[in-house]
Amino acid sequence: MRPLSWIPSFVLIASLLGLSVLSACAQEPRPLPDCEWCGAAEAPDDVSWTTTIAGADEPGEPMVITGTVYRPDGETPAPGVLLYVYHTDAEGIYPTRGDEQGNARRHGYLRGWMRTDDAGQYRFTTIRPGTYPSRNEPAHVHMTIKEPDRAEYWVDSIVFADDPLVDAAYRAERDERGGSGIVDLTRGDDGVWRGQRDVVLME
Ligand SMILES: [Fe+2]
Repeated sequence: MRPLSWIPSFVLIASLLGLSVLSACAQEPRPLPDCEWCGAAEAPDDVSWTTTIAGADEPGEPMVITGTVYRPDGETPAPGVLLYVYHTDAEGIYPTRGDEQGNARRHGYLRGWMRTDDAGQYRFTTIRPGTYPSRNEPAHVHMTIKEPDRAEYWVDSIVFADDPLVDAAYRAERDERGGSGIVDLTRGDDGVWRGQRDVVLME
């Protein structure tokens, strides 16, 4: 029996180590990123020019946004630009499932990334977001831009021209960073809202 006497001690030590690790994980959630609105650094490796953000099981009205990203001259398409977008669900909430990491803990799971194609184009398929329950801001889709060799920056959110909260006072206060983000949506016979948001890169 003597040669095997180390086994219980080994099991005990391993168990204690395991409990210590589990305990540390439970007590110390990883800190949130410093930048509250960023997301480019969390892009997956296989980013395409098009993405689907909301699955078929996500409640809401389907929506497809397309656009072209232009260089600061407003005319030359800009390929290879990374876009990050995120938005609320149909109830105006940034929804989480509880297992989110990084800024998904702030932005929710309705988010996605695209890299513009050779013609500077991007497209995302999702659901039309709702207005915050406070109704203090129009329904919107946040958008950030990451050009090669340049820090990520935000541009005007996508809002919708038919939103009663996109009134004259609101329009007057828009920054128009990256061009106008006020999008005219049209609803097809298939029930899908479609709109276009072109982006002009910052100088
Ligand atoms: Fe927001």
